[in-house]
This record gives sequence, C-alpha cells and structure tokens, in this order.
Amino acid sequence: MRRRALVTGASSGIGAATARRLAAEGYRVALLARDAVRLRKVQQELAGQGHLALVCDLCDPEAIASAFAHLDGEFGGLDLLVNNAGVGYRAKVEELEEEPLQRLFDTNVLALLFTCRAALPLLRRGKRPVVVNVSSVVGRRGIPGQVAYAASKAAVCSIGEGLRIEWAEDAIAVCTLDPALTATGFFDAQPNPAGLPDPDLSQAVGPEAVAAEVLALDRQPRPERTLRWKWHLLGVLSLVAPRLADRLLVRNLGGGWRVPR
Ligand SMILES: NC(=O)c1ccc[n+]([C@@H]2O[C@H](COP(=O)([O-])OP(=O)(O)OC[C@H]3O[C@@H](n4cnc5c(N)ncnc54)[C@H](OP(=O)(O)O)[C@@H]3O)[C@@H](O)[C@H]2O)c1
Repeated sequence: MRRRALVTGASSGIGAATARRLAAEGYRVALLARDAVRLRKVQQELAGQGHLALVCDLCDPEAIASAFAHLDGEFGGLDLLVNNAGVGYRAKVEELEEEPLQRLFDTNVLALLFTCRAALPLLRRGKRPVVVNVSSVVGRRGIPGQVAYAASKAAVCSIGEGLRIEWAEDAIAVCTLDPALTATGFFDAQPNPAGLPDPDLSQAVGPEAVAAEVLALDRQPRPERTLRWKWHLLGVLSLVAPRLADRLLVRNLGGGWRVPR
C-alpha cells in the first residue's frame, strides 16, 4: 500500500519540496497551508494521483479539527506526519510586538501540539508511523536578533524529546529535523520591523536537500538530525562551555554583535 503523508506548510519552500519528493517516491500526500491558490498549484504539480489539499490556518484549533476530519475521511489513517509549517521573526527583544509574537508561538509551537493531538488517532491506524517535526539549528542554540524565533524552535526540540517517549507505546517514531539556512521565501515572509540584515542566502541549501532528509527519516527514523555539523557542535558547546560558544557565535555571525562580559 502507498504510504500516506501529511505535510503542513506545503504551499511553499521546504513543505512544497517535501510534498513533491514524497509524491515522486509514490506516497499519497495531503498538503496543508492557508493559501489555497499556492497550495492547489503545488498539488497539481505532484506526481501520481489521489493527493489532497487542505486549506487550513493552523492558528485556529477548530480549523485543525475539521482538516483532520476531512483527512481521515479521505486517507483513513496516516503513516507520516511532517510538521513543517512555521514563521520567523527577526527582531531584537526590545522591538517585539504582541501580534507577531503571538502568531509566532501560535504557529510554531501551539499549532504543532494541536496537530500532533489531532493526528494521533490516524497515526495509530498507520503503518510504521513516523512524525518529523521541523525545528531549526537555532532550536539548539539561541541567537541575537532572533531570540523569540529560536525559543519557539527550542520548544519544538523539547516537544520531540518528550513525545517520542509518550508515543513509544503506539510504536510511533518521532524525529526532530534541524535545518540550517535554506533558500525559501521564509526570510521575505518574516516580520523584521527594524530591517535587521537577512543572512547571505548564497550559503543556503535548496529546499530539496531538506526534503531528502525528511524522506530519509521516514525510511530510517532517528531522534534528531541536524543538517549542519558546525551548528550541532555549537549546540553541544553551548551547554558545556557557554562562554566559548558565545565567542565563536559572535565571531561568525557578523552584524556588530558583542561578546558578553
Ligand atoms: N528557510 C530556512 O532557512 C529554515 C531554516 C531552518 C528551519 N526552517 C523551518 O522550516 C519550515 C519551513 O520553512 P520554509 O523555509 O519552507 O518557509 P516558507 O517558504 O515561508 O514556508 C512556510 C510554510 O508555512 C505555512 N504556514 C505559515 N503559517 C501557517 C498557518 N498559520 N497555517 C498553515 N500554514 C502556515 C506557509 O503557508 P501559507 O502562507 O500558505 O499558510 C508556508 O507553506 C519552518 O518551520 C521554518 O521555521 C527554515
């Protein structure tokens, strides 16, 4: 039987690339996002038949419930859930505003928890069920200018650690994927009230590289996969030698940040 996957945030970037890759590998894919036009365009490009577009704002728990009722009716279960939808927020703490801050945590953290809750009955009926939660390298190391975003991604890493033990009794594998810089529309979409400089995307990988890692995790689940080893080391170093980690980070970030006293 074809594997059945749900990809959130499938209207662009990493989610769209993941939907395309899974469909090319023979999966039946449900795509979820808010923008119906972009979502249906991605759906039409997918290889194979039987894919589903779910137009849903994940910040609305009732919309999540009705999307999952629809998904259950069409798929009858779920083998892979990719919690990918997310938004950024490039701002110093002193610049944070309530609405975008609320939206950040609603989208990146609360929606992921509500989606997991709604998906559990379907995953229990799945074959070798797998969840991939898309965090970020900054989920394991906070950074200046993106303090709130990094905190939301740290929450995603924490959710993975607890959830994979909660769901072990249902044999549902829970994986955390930590991409580094990826060339998508993410940076244009994020609020950036003071115009802090965006990273140099010439260093970025394409979203297809991240999609390939999602597929690899579905085939061979691992607790966590960090896509740039320097960030993996920085995360470890931040626990065992935080002053050294701060120095290394400041030296490599550019942007005029200072090493703390
Ligand atoms: N790009 C990077 O460098 C990078 C690095 C590390 C981690 N990540 C993470 O990777 C994930 C995908 O990001 P991306 O780079 O592919 O960015 P993107 O192109 O901006 O994609 C974000 C997706 O999330 C969806 N989304 C946002 N809010 C939503 C909501 N309330 N309800 C439903 N869908 C929503 C968007 O669709 P609609 O607007 O149509 O709803 C879009 O499909 C995010 O979790 C991001 O934090 C990205």
